[in-house]
Amino acid sequence: MKTQVGIIGGGPSGLLLSQLLHLQGIDTIVLEKHSRDYVLGRIRAGVLEHGFVKLMRLAQCAARMDSEGEIHDGFFIADGERKRRIDLAGYTGGQSVMVYGQTELTRDLYEARDKLGGTVLHNVEDVQLHALTSDVPQITCRTGTDHIQIDCDYVVGADGYHGVSRKSIPDNVLTEYEKVFPFGWLGVLSETKPVSPELIYAKSARGFALCSLRSRVLSRYYIQVPSGDRVEDWSDEAFWAELKARLPADVTDSLETGPSIEKSIAPLRSFVAEPMRYGNLFLAGDAAHIVPPTGAKGLNSAASDIYYLYHALVAHYQDGDDAGLNSYCEKALARVWKAQRFSWWMTNLLHLFPDRIAYDQRLQQTELDYLFASEAAMKSLAENYVGLPF
Ligand code: APR
Ligand code: PHB
Repeated sequence: MKTQVGIIGGGPSGLLLSQLLHLQGIDTIVLEKHSRDYVLGRIRAGVLEHGFVKLMRLAQCAARMDSEGEIHDGFFIADGERKRRIDLAGYTGGQSVMVYGQTELTRDLYEARDKLGGTVLHNVEDVQLHALTSDVPQITCRTGTDHIQIDCDYVVGADGYHGVSRKSIPDNVLTEYEKVFPFGWLGVLSETKPVSPELIYAKSARGFALCSLRSRVLSRYYIQVPSGDRVEDWSDEAFWAELKARLPADVTDSLETGPSIEKSIAPLRSFVAEPMRYGNLFLAGDAAHIVPPTGAKGLNSAASDIYYLYHALVAHYQDGDDAGLNSYCEKALARVWKAQRFSWWMTNLLHLFPDRIAYDQRLQQTELDYLFASEAAMKSLAENYVGLPF
């Protein structure tokens, strides 16, 4: 087989790039390790920066997002009993975020690929990348007993943290930066009325909590739990009791509880791999970087990778201009690290760090007091939350 751009990974990053390139007449093949149902069974975050929303519209995949998603122009931060609204639109000249489940977004991308007749191979095994520094990089893999070889002009590794692409870059070329937080997030999805029309990020003496939503009848809640906690350690009743204990009384009083339809624990860690290019292999999304979910920057930092790669590949094929490809690493990493910084800052601001010295505990409270009292600090938070420019 031959294609212009071979894409490893049928998650949101790989699918979005494939769709955008197809609309410009650039041929791609997407190779996905799992079945479509498996990929669509993943529960992920649901806050989209305005830049990602624009990319989905450019990809002609935004109809359901625009009709079912919710535009949010603010959110709340609670600190014990006090609560402040972050006026995103007010601080950013009218910008906002879209609340729309990543599972639905991935479904929309798959349906768009089907509609255009895009090639997405599922259940591929033993994907290997070859001759990445040559002009004809190759992908080999298996589906069942069929062995496949795909000659490409370029390979995009959009195969997530556990994928094969980053591991195909020689150790002496790759530098990895990692930070592991001493806690995770226990998340619950419940068919209940969201306690608040806007998200509430809560700092409390018992730990962090987050009130989010998927729709007017589907709520998403999280509480910080120690690393090592297992989801079977937490009954629904225990979860609801702990969530209530971490929220302001006026919020707790109106919290509707119900059975969890999904319950899981995600670890919190930060990770960046450099460079994001090796020969004709380009890394994008979770394959190259991971953030704690506090700032909702996971998918949104993948968005700028896809934006840069899309424009660079179009310039290559349509104008013979390789400036975008040659500057991809520098441009992508500049924005990736700003998303890392914001996610690190928000995580440190709102979580309980049990082993912190007393001085650092007071510094954390002072950071929040300063934020609540400073328009400049609020503006900085807002511009990062809605998304820095691509
Ligand atoms: N071969 C083929 N596909 C693979 C391989 C492999 N060796 N390894 C992993 N994959 C697939 C996974 O099954 C997954 O569907 O690559 C896809 C990667 O998708 P994601 O992990 O969702 O990563 P990405 O598309 O970059 O999206 C980033 O997803 O995990 C969240 O928080 C993250 O919101 C962010 C978004
Ligand atoms: C979610 O709705 O899953 C969500 C929202 C905001 C975050 C993280 C997760 O920062």
